[in-house]
Amino acid sequence: MLCFVTVGTFSFDLLVRAVLSEPVLDALQARGYTRLVIQYGDSEFDTSVVTRTGLDIELWARKPSLDQDFRRADLVIGHAGAGTILDPLIVVPNESLLHNHQLELATALAASNHLRTSTIADLAHSVTVFDPAALATFEPFDGSRFRALVDEEMGFQL
Ligand SMILES: *[C@@H]1O[C@H](CO)[C@@H](O)[C@H](O)[C@H]1NC(C)=O
Repeated sequence: MLCFVTVGTFSFDLLVRAVLSEPVLDALQARGYTRLVIQYGDSEFDTSVVTRTGLDIELWARKPSLDQDFRRADLVIGHAGAGTILDPLIVVPNESLLHNHQLELATALAASNHLRTSTIADLAHSVTVFDPAALATFEPFDGSRFRALVDEEMGFQL
């Protein structure tokens, strides 16, 4: 199983460090994830330090295309505004950007059970209890319309 973490063209070191922390790595492995792909954006990370038995960890500053990762991922972890709400998604809002539209939308979609939100501190727990099957799905037709709406609203760009 693949967990994909993305910050797009931004930086969100707190999130990346949280994902690479022992409790979150433990939680991912306990849930059966065997691959972790992290696209960490506009930051400096020593990508050689992170290894873990049983979990294949890949770090990328940028990736040529994120589409496949989004499609293949069993779990996507991103900031409010990352990717699409049609993926099984845990949104960790960037707290230095509070009160923006993306966060409002993520909060609304969490309330309607279409995604989960988490804080940095709660991430291990959020991974542990995350159940994609419990998320509400969109009808394909509504989904594509909704996706266009959300992408527009979020100024979606990766
Ligand atoms: C989070 O906010 C900081 C400060 O405004 C910004 O530099 C960074 O790019 C943001 N990251 C994301 C993922 O939005």
